[in-house]
Amino acid sequence: MMMRRSLIAGNWKMHTTDTEARELALAVAGNCLGVAERDVLLAPPFTVLGSVSECLKDTGILVGVQNVCWQEKGAFTGEISPTMVKAAGGVAAIVGHSERRQIFLETDELINRRVVGGLSFGLMMILCIGETREQRESGVTFAVLEKQLRGGLAGVQAKDMASIVIAYEPVWAIGTGLTASKEQAQEAHAFIRRLIAEMYEKDLAGQLRILYGGSVKPTNVDELMAQPDIDGALVGGAALDAEAFGRIVAYK
Ligand code: PGA
Repeated sequence: MMMRRSLIAGNWKMHTTDTEARELALAVAGNCLGVAERDVLLAPPFTVLGSVSECLKDTGILVGVQNVCWQEKGAFTGEISPTMVKAAGGVAAIVGHSERRQIFLETDELINRRVVGGLSFGLMMILCIGETREQRESGVTFAVLEKQLRGGLAGVQAKDMASIVIAYEPVWAIGTGLTASKEQAQEAHAFIRRLIAEMYEKDLAGQLRILYGGSVKPTNVDELMAQPDIDGALVGGAALDAEAFGRIVAYK
C-alpha cells in the first residue's frame, strides 16, 4: 500500500488581526523547522491570507482558507472566490466545517458546490464531516458520515480525488476539550476509507488522506496519529499557540 504523506492543518477560525497573524505565522514557521516529511497548512481568516502567505514564503508551509465560493467572480455578497484565494497565495480550502453547517446552516448540497468549484480551480479541498453528540448517542454516526460524504462528493470524479482530503471531526469533540478515543477515531476513519473504496476504487481510497479533528492537543496527538487510518489532524484551538502547534506537527 502506498504511504500517505501526513498533513497537519491549523484552522485559525475567526482569530487574528494582521499584526497577530504575522507574529503567529512566523512563530509557527520557527517551530516547524525540520519536519519536511509532513505537510503543514495554515488556514487563517481571509483578511490576513496575503500577509500569512508572505510570511511563510520559502518555508514550505502551505496556506489555505476556511471556506470558498464556487464561482470565479460575480454577485456573491460576502463570499471569496478560488481565484482570489490563489492570488493571495492560498492553495487549499476547508469546506463543510461543522460551524458552517450548524451556525450558518450550510447544507451538503451547498458544500458540494464549494467542493466541485474549488477543485475546478485547482484548490486542494478539505471536506469536513462529523456527527453530533445526539447522533452518536442514537447510533446513527455512520449513516450521518455516509450522507455527508456522498453529498459532499457528489459529481467529484476519481481523477480529482487526489486533491481531496477528508477531515473527520466529531462535532462533540470540537472546542470542547473532549477528544474521540483513538478507537472511536480509527473506527470512523476506517469506515470512511471503506466507503470511498466503494464509491471509487480501493487504490484511490488507500491514497486518500483522512484527518482527525476535535480537540487535538500535544497530549493526545501521538496516540491518534499512531492509528492506521489517521493521516493527519485538523487543529483549531491549539493552532493558535505556536508552541503547541509545533509539538503537534512533530508528533511521534
Ligand atoms: P478544536 O477545533 O481543535 O479547537 O477542537 C477543531 C476544528 O474545529 O477544526
